[in-house]
Amino acid sequence: MRIGVDYYPEHWEKERWKTDAELMAKANIKVVRIGEFAWSLYQPEENRFCFEWMDEILDFFRDHQISVVLCTPSATPPKWMTDKYPDIFQDDIHGNPKIFGTRKHYCFNSKTYHAFTRELVTKIAERYGRHPAVEAWQIDNELGWANTTRCYCEKCRAEFQQWLKKKYGTIEELNRRYGTVFWSQIYNSFEEVIIPRAGACYDTCHDTQGQNPALLLDYYRFSSDSVIRFAKESAEIIRRYSDRPVTSNLLDAAVNSGTGIDYFKLSEQLDFVSWDNYIEFQWGIAQAATVSRDHALLRSYKKQPFWVMEQQSGPCGWSKMGPAPTPGKLRLWTYQAVANGADTVVYFRWRACPFGTEQYWHGILDHDGKPNRRYEEIAQVGSEMERLNRVFGTLKPQAKIAIVKSFDSEWSHSIHKHVENFQYDSFLLDFYRPFYQMGLSVDFVTPHDDISSYALVLAPALLIVTEEEKENLERYVRGGGTLLLTFRSGIRDEDNNMRKETVPGAFSELAGVRVKEYDPQFQKETGSSGVFGKAQSKLWCDVVEPVSAETLGVYTQDYYSGESCLTVNAFGKGTVYYLGCDLDGDAMNRLMKYLCTRHGLSPVTYPIEGVEQVEAQDGEHTALFVMNHNPYPAVVPLDRIYENALTNDEEKDTVTLKPYDVAVLIWKKSF
Ligand code: GLA
Ligand code: ZN
Repeated sequence: MRIGVDYYPEHWEKERWKTDAELMAKANIKVVRIGEFAWSLYQPEENRFCFEWMDEILDFFRDHQISVVLCTPSATPPKWMTDKYPDIFQDDIHGNPKIFGTRKHYCFNSKTYHAFTRELVTKIAERYGRHPAVEAWQIDNELGWANTTRCYCEKCRAEFQQWLKKKYGTIEELNRRYGTVFWSQIYNSFEEVIIPRAGACYDTCHDTQGQNPALLLDYYRFSSDSVIRFAKESAEIIRRYSDRPVTSNLLDAAVNSGTGIDYFKLSEQLDFVSWDNYIEFQWGIAQAATVSRDHALLRSYKKQPFWVMEQQSGPCGWSKMGPAPTPGKLRLWTYQAVANGADTVVYFRWRACPFGTEQYWHGILDHDGKPNRRYEEIAQVGSEMERLNRVFGTLKPQAKIAIVKSFDSEWSHSIHKHVENFQYDSFLLDFYRPFYQMGLSVDFVTPHDDISSYALVLAPALLIVTEEEKENLERYVRGGGTLLLTFRSGIRDEDNNMRKETVPGAFSELAGVRVKEYDPQFQKETGSSGVFGKAQSKLWCDVVEPVSAETLGVYTQDYYSGESCLTVNAFGKGTVYYLGCDLDGDAMNRLMKYLCTRHGLSPVTYPIEGVEQVEAQDGEHTALFVMNHNPYPAVVPLDRIYENALTNDEEKDTVTLKPYDVAVLIWKKSF
């Protein structure tokens, strides 16, 4: 585990670099990420390239023994290019071309942009692929940032038509599967197919609402594929010249959720994954559980340790700022990342920039460049990491619980949300939170992953499954696994059309139930009780009829009072729960606790509100990270004897943490 910074040497006088490198070394900062927006320095004109400036920077870091993540600068095309080749721009959802000025305004299907990117990436990779300072590569910056995954231009339309032709073969097949007979949408050729942008209907609809749902889902898939193809192209060029690993900084930030890229698929193109973690800033304040969930997602995309490529290090925002991180929080956020499986945490940014858009986006240092309280805190983290590295290897939580995350289902839910207030992402979080509170790590998996190593798998609102995915889940349960399904699962086909089988469609046999009818909770809520105690549902109620299953919970209100809302079914050697309604937080905690008790999962220690407890292993040692997210002290009971890896004290009975404080404990023995 180690720390780094996002650094922009080109923003500062050269004379300053040395001071920066010395301050970095003093704080045990081991790595810098550079160059992700520097296209106009590399290529000031179409046929003129400059590398001397970067040669100097890389040699400088080599001499100072700080390693570098070198980026491809495709997030910011230079002015001459946008002037001469305006076809590189995206069109927004209303069909308006974007303009020069910020970043990420290029189209992932512009052949011109692909060609320019290939050319520059080749030159950079050729020149620096084996430079001793370069330890890794970052492709572009935050692919999909600010709704840029989906472009609505004519280039995309032409590419999309090709994509469809490959997928469907004939237009008749597309018409059949899209159900274009509805509202006179039958196409005579692929060339007629539109891209679903805004503008078809303004009355009761906004944006693309009302467009054909099969077309929309395909367009989302195509757009995600386009971004991945773009990233893949750069990654492949780099690998021709360099043996250093390639990443890209993902954007699963709690506040920023949903880029429209299938991150499981994108991750296949990367050697390791990383993400940008902003917690308290202009656009929101994230809950600790949500950030923990985001780390868990990153850990899951490649099932290996990940990096935080941008970690908040000061008060930030563009036009106005979020709060200054309270003393202790920078350290706490770093440990939260490490506990959940990050092996490198890179702070954004080293020093606040005095010019440009992000003058308010503070880094470790303020504009004046002088060491301050945030620097001292990060230096403390740096020296603690050194200490911990003498004890531990690469630590990773070993989750026995998994939540299924499906991008197809996520996109389908975003097209048709079923009922006001339903949001797939936050619904998954509702299932993550109880385990987070119990100190039990959770991985995220796709419906087609091998899930046989998990004791418990939850597949909330898994709307769309393919035949193979359905069989995969069945195989898991048949072999002895425990699966929880919920309302709105298995009811749509791969074309985003409703299945004709009785709900829960693909999962009827597995769950051993039939849903007689359902009641979307629009401006109402319904009570229930069962193994989860008493509960209120605010989103959805399936009226469940057990076929081979048994009832574990019933509604207590409305015309379906007495009918089942939760069931359990024996299937092969395993068990399937079907939850027909959403539950409030307390009931959810009780239900997850019930599942843990029934299926041999015991919490690490005693849950304490606001204290995150994560157990991680390096193959030899088990570390227990105890992190106090509360603004007040916490006394955490321990049921084993531990050694405190940061103080070498023995900790038994309890460990006391100051506000935002952290303890890293090594399990010594049981009482
Ligand atoms: C993103 C980007 C950075 C920077 C920060 C702050 O995460 O990757 O370049 O712009 O936000 O806005
Ligand atoms: Zn486009």
